[in-house]
Amino acid sequence: MSKLQNYKEIYSMACSLVEGESNLVANLANITSLLKEKLNHFWIGFYLVENDQLVLGPFQGTLACTRIDFGKGVCGSAWKEQRTFLVDNVHEFAGHIACSSLSNSEIVVPVIYENKVVAVLDIDSTEFSTFDQIDKTELEKICEMLATKCNW
Ligand code: SME
Repeated sequence: MSKLQNYKEIYSMACSLVEGESNLVANLANITSLLKEKLNHFWIGFYLVENDQLVLGPFQGTLACTRIDFGKGVCGSAWKEQRTFLVDNVHEFAGHIACSSLSNSEIVVPVIYENKVVAVLDIDSTEFSTFDQIDKTELEKICEMLATKCNW
């Protein structure tokens, strides 16, 4: 199956999963499970905006840092700049927060609700240069859908 076709299936399953369920944690937990199963990257999860920090939310993978400050690391930068960050080599990203030494590349997509970042989706890979424009476009589509369908 092509990468795009895989994402099409993920999108359709993600819509079905959140349809009719309003609980945020339940929805994000199922979305991370779906993404882990279908994309199988090393670490997949959400950080939720709480006051001036990002706080660890539902995830699949190894233990992670619980709080990230505004503008810090890749996640904090995606929050600050309200845009997706594609990082081919995390070791070259100034201020990268290394939760695991196994992570080599990552993508962070903000979830934007009513013009504000309410969460970020963080996906880490053990390989370098894992993520491309297809990942960016398709994960942004999923995050846009979550922004409208979940209770933030
Ligand atoms: N790599 C992230 C920190 C979160 S962990 O990788 C799960 C960052 O620099 O924002």
